[in-house]
Amino acid sequence: MSEKKIKIGIIGAGSRGVMCFGKLIDERIDAKIVAFCDPNPVRMEAASKHLSEKPNCYTTIKEMAAKEKLDACVITSPDHCHASNAVEALNRGINVLIDKPLATTVKGCREILAAAKKSGKAVMIGFNLRHSPALKKLKELIDAGTLGKIFLIENREFYDGGRTYMSRWNRKYDLCGGLWIHKGSHDFDVFNWLFDFPKPLKVSSTAGINVFKPDQIPFKVQKNKPVGPTCTKCSYREICPDCYSEVKEMDEWGEKAMKVDNYAKDLCMYTSDKDVHDNGIAIVEYENGVRASHLECFVCSFSDRLYTIVGDRGTAEVSLDQRKITIRPRWSKDVITYDVGETIGGHGGADPGLIESFMNVIKGNSANTSTAEHGMLSTAIGQAAEISRREDRTVFIKELMK
Ligand SMILES: NC(=O)c1ccc[n+]([C@@H]2O[C@H](COP(=O)([O-])OP(=O)(O)OC[C@H]3O[C@@H](n4cnc5c(N)ncnc54)[C@H](O)[C@@H]3O)[C@@H](O)[C@H]2O)c1
Repeated sequence: MSEKKIKIGIIGAGSRGVMCFGKLIDERIDAKIVAFCDPNPVRMEAASKHLSEKPNCYTTIKEMAAKEKLDACVITSPDHCHASNAVEALNRGINVLIDKPLATTVKGCREILAAAKKSGKAVMIGFNLRHSPALKKLKELIDAGTLGKIFLIENREFYDGGRTYMSRWNRKYDLCGGLWIHKGSHDFDVFNWLFDFPKPLKVSSTAGINVFKPDQIPFKVQKNKPVGPTCTKCSYREICPDCYSEVKEMDEWGEKAMKVDNYAKDLCMYTSDKDVHDNGIAIVEYENGVRASHLECFVCSFSDRLYTIVGDRGTAEVSLDQRKITIRPRWSKDVITYDVGETIGGHGGADPGLIESFMNVIKGNSANTSTAEHGMLSTAIGQAAEISRREDRTVFIKELMK
C-alpha cells in the first residue's frame, strides 16, 4: 500500500522556496507541494510553472491554512518575517522548516520557541551546511578524538555570489538583520554544532563596505549617463563586470511581478542604498575557552569555505569546495588527507540531505537534530556581531539571552 503523501506549503515562493525546496520536494514520492503563500500573486503564478503540478496560491497564511490541510510548511520568506510567519503557521498546528536564520533577533527566536511549545509542532532550522559531506566527515573525525581537545577554529568564507546581496533585500539591515545574521548564522552554527554546542561567551567584530560603493565603480561613468538603477536598465550593462543578469529572463522577477511589490533583484551593487557589509571578521569566544573566528568576503571570483581547526592532538584544514580534509597529527610529520566524494544537489549535496532529514522528522522516523534552540544560538552570535560592529565594542551573549 502506498504511503500517504506529506502535504507541504511553501511560504515565500522565491528562489530558495521554489528552485531549491520546491523542486526537491517535487521529486519525492512521499511528499507534495500543495500550496504557495506569497504576497506577490504574479510571482507565485510564474513560480508555480517550475513544479510538475500547480499548487494552490494564497497571499496570506490564514487563507492557506483555512483551505488546505497542511502537514508542514517551508518558510523561505525574507528573514525579517521568519518569526511572524512561523508563529502564524505554528499557531495553526503546522510543522515548520525555516530556512536559516531562524529569525533576525533573539526576541523573534523566542517568539517561535514559545509558539512551538504551545502547539507541540516541530520547528526545524535549515542549516544545510550540517549536511555537507565534508563537514559531516570533519565532525566524525572530531567526535572520534582525532584532533584531541579543540581550542581554536578559523573559518574564511569567500563567496562570489555574495556580491548579489548588495542588489536585493539582503542589502538592508531591517530586512535581513545584517549579514552576520543572514549569512554568518550558517557559520556560527557550524562552530556550535562541531563542538557540541558550547555556550558562547562574547563576540567582537569589524565589518564594512570597502568595494561596493559608488566611488569604486569599475568603469568610467560618463557625464549625463548615470549607472543603474538596475542591471537590466543600466546603460553600462555590456561593460560592467558585475552585471547581474541571472534572473532577468524569469517571469517571477520581470516587470509584471515588479509592478506588484517594486522588488528588483538586480539593483546596482555599487549605488544601491545598502547598510550591510561586503567583508568583515567576527571573533567568538566560548565559555569553555574555545576561540573561533569567521571571515566573510563577498568581493572575490570564487566560492569556498576554508576551515582550520586546532586541537591538542592535531590540526585539520578543510576546503568545502574541494571537499578535502587534511589532518596533521601533533608530534608527527604525517599528513593524512580525506577526499570526500562528490554528491548531487544544491550546496554540494547539502540541500537534499536537509529535506530528507525534515521528512524523517515529520514522519516521526528520527529526532529533530536541527532545533529552534540551535537557531536561536546562532542568531544570538550573529546579533552580537552586528551590535559589535555598529557600536564598536565587545558584546557579551548574556546581554541578549537574559
Ligand atoms: N540555506 C541557504 O543556503 C540559503 C541560501 C539562500 C537563501 N536562504 C534563505 O532563504 C530565504 C529566501 O531567500 P531567497 O534568496 O529565496 O529570497 P527571494 O527574494 O528569492 O524570495 C523571497 C520570496 O518571499 C516573498 N515574500 C516577501 N515577503 C513575504 C512575506 N511576508 N511572507 C511570505 N513571503 C514573502 C517574496 O515575494 C519572494 O517571492 C531567506 O530566509 C534566506 O535567508 C538560505
